[in-house]
Amino acid sequence: MSVEILVHSQTGHCFSVAETLAGLARAAGHRTSLTRITPSDEKETDLGKLSITPVPQDAGADLYVIGAPVHGFSATPAIRKAVAQMPFLDGKRVVLFTTEWFPLDWMGGTHTLKQLEQAVAEQGGQVVATRVIHWERKDRGEQIEAFSRDFSQLLQGDAGGEPEVAG
Ligand SMILES: Cc1cc2nc3c(=O)[nH]c(=O)nc-3n(C[C@H](O)[C@H](O)[C@H](O)COP(=O)(O)O)c2cc1C
Repeated sequence: MSVEILVHSQTGHCFSVAETLAGLARAAGHRTSLTRITPSDEKETDLGKLSITPVPQDAGADLYVIGAPVHGFSATPAIRKAVAQMPFLDGKRVVLFTTEWFPLDWMGGTHTLKQLEQAVAEQGGQVVATRVIHWERKDRGEQIEAFSRDFSQLLQGDAGGEPEVAG
């Protein structure tokens, strides 16, 4: 199947998780693309004034992965702007993840995922998995490994036949 990973990452944490997931999907033989979006202004909170590059395109993927950091206990304007421009999520399965600095979900991760789940639902997408990675915790590596394992299982379960060969 084909997997589209879209990530906003100001300082690289989410991007590194996205690269790990992309590597797993490619290794499992799935056609995979990874897109890192950049907002016109990281501090702009007005979605009407904000633009992102590249504008998300309909890749016709079977599975979408959307990731972004917690900013101020919330999803970043950049990722909210991106999802608002993804009507092609309609009927598609979506994995959501976020990274936050603080050690507990309620310190921003939970609210961020709730916002993103709602944004995806508004586009008609179906969230099949969510994850918060806590960056400052000593077990960060284990958190990412556990997410990787769960993501690999989801890829296997959703493969629905022979995986496509990358390229
Ligand atoms: C403006 C701003 C606000 C942030 N607010 C929070 C927050 O509310 N809770 C938290 O745990 N981390 C917060 N962080 C830390 C980031 O969520 C964390 O470092 C994340 O892993 C960064 O991901 P990135 O490298 O992909 O941008 C904030 C960071 C920035 C720059």
